[in-house]
Parts: sequence; structure tokens; C-alpha cells
Amino acid sequence: MLRIVNLTKHFDDLIILEKFNLTVPSDGFTVLIGPSGCGKSTLFDLLTGVVPKDSGEIVWEQRRMNHLGRNAAYMQQKDLLLPWFSLLENALLPARISKTDMVKSEIKARKLFRRLGLAGFENYHPAKISGGMRQRCALVRTLMFDYELVLLDEPLSALDAITRRSLQALLLMLQSDFRKTILMITHDIEEALLLADELIVLTPAPMRIRKRFALTSPKPRRMNDPFLVELKERMLELLQEDAGLIIR
Ligand SMILES: Nc1ncnc2c1ncn2[C@@H]1O[C@H](COP(=O)(O)OP(=O)(O)OP(=O)(O)O)[C@@H](O)[C@H]1O
Ligand SMILES: [Mg+2]
Repeated sequence: MLRIVNLTKHFDDLIILEKFNLTVPSDGFTVLIGPSGCGKSTLFDLLTGVVPKDSGEIVWEQRRMNHLGRNAAYMQQKDLLLPWFSLLENALLPARISKTDMVKSEIKARKLFRRLGLAGFENYHPAKISGGMRQRCALVRTLMFDYELVLLDEPLSALDAITRRSLQALLLMLQSDFRKTILMITHDIEEALLLADELIVLTPAPMRIRKRFALTSPKPRRMNDPFLVELKERMLELLQEDAGLIIR
């Protein structure tokens, strides 16, 4: 279980998080959804130590830690692929840095390239491929490690509908077959409803939990489920209210 306790972060006089609390159950698929600029990516940066927290606690499996470090794989919103390396080299970079067995790593990477529809592009450079392909390559790199926790910041946002659906299935498999704890940010309400065990709606900064929804229907789900259709409407209203888009 991941527990975030009283997490606080200010950027100068901009308060992003003020005593933010969240509990994420192990093996669950938790989805965060909230207005642009509310602090979602900052939360992930704080959890993984990309950005230092001001105060508060991060507790993973009863252990209090400064940040999650090697317990979490993190796919950032920006893909951070290095332009002078091929896609395969980019995917293998974390393995090289952490001195993991390179033969095994390459076999695994090539398998993931195939699974994510990137077979044949291993030797391309990032500048020569599309945005959606870059995103999938970043996802390959994130999935190279068997960390228990997987943090995904809008991992499928640049994909076409068909590829997106196939990668949603991949994420579900990751959760069910590999028993990962997944924490994902998305702006896509339907995606959230199809994947989440728990859906957390966030307020504008300073970010707080606006509402939590437990989704217990079995997966894979379809959007024609009346419960999901109804929930989608309620979420749209919540998000529009917070964005100041509903004028009463
Ligand atoms: N390094 C930084 N220095 C100063 N301000 C920052 C920094 N990083 C983020 N911010 C500010 O913090 C706020 C939250 O940014 P963040 O990227 O966490 O939002 P978000 O919820 O992920 O938004 P989006 O949905 O658009 O990705 C924004 O106002 C942003 O300008
Ligand atoms: Mg963001």
C-alpha cells in the first residue's frame, strides 16, 4: 500500500499541494483525473524524487521513504527520449545505467516493442517517428523494470483510438497478470472508467481530492454499461464545475 501523508509543495508563492493525503491500495488500478495545472504531474514528480517535497510523508509497504526510488517505474508526461539514441537504445538506457544483464534486457525490450506495435522501428531515432510512437517507446522503457508500482502520466494521450484500446488492454494485463499497483493520470474520462478500480477526481491547485469513486464491475468493461454512462455524466459535471465552465 502507498500512503501519502500531508504532502506539501509550493513553487515560490504558488501552492500546489498543502497537506495532501491519499492512500493507494496494492495491486489496484487507481486513476487520477483533474483540471489542467492542478498538480497531478507535480505529485508524481514528488513521489519519485524528480522534484523535492517541502514536507510530508511517503510511505510504501509500511516503510517511510523520502521518495519511491527503485520501488516505482515512472512514465513522465514528457517522453524524455534522447534524440541521439535509437528507440532500442533509449529503451535499454535504464538497464545499462543500472548494470542489468543486457542480453536479457534486449530480449525483453524487443518483446515489448512487438507487443506495443513498434516492431521494425527499433533502430529508428525519435525524430523520425510520430508522437504516438514516441509515447509507446517511452512506455516500453517504463515497463522494462519489474517494479511493483507503476506511475503513468497520461501514457496514452497521443494515441489513435485503436492503438489506445490495445494499450489499455496491455495495462489491464499488467495489473492482473503481473500484479502491479498502477497509478495513472488521464484527461480521458472514458479511459478512466474502463480501467480504474478507484477513480479520484481532483480540485484545481492547491490540489485536494474532490471525490472518489469505487468501480467494482469486472474488466474488460464496455462503455455501454449504464452505470458507467451515468458516472461519466457525473464526472463531466464535476470537472466542468471546477473549471468554472458551468455558469449558474
Ligand atoms: N518546476 C516548476 N517550477 C515552477 N512551477 C511549476 C514547476 N512545475 C510545475 N509548476 C506549476 O505547478 C502547477 C501544476 O503543474 P502540473 O504539471 O503538476 O499540473 P498538471 O495537473 O499535471 O497539469 P496537466 O493536466 O496540464 O498536465 C502549474 O501551475 C505549473 O506551472
Ligand atoms: Mg501533467
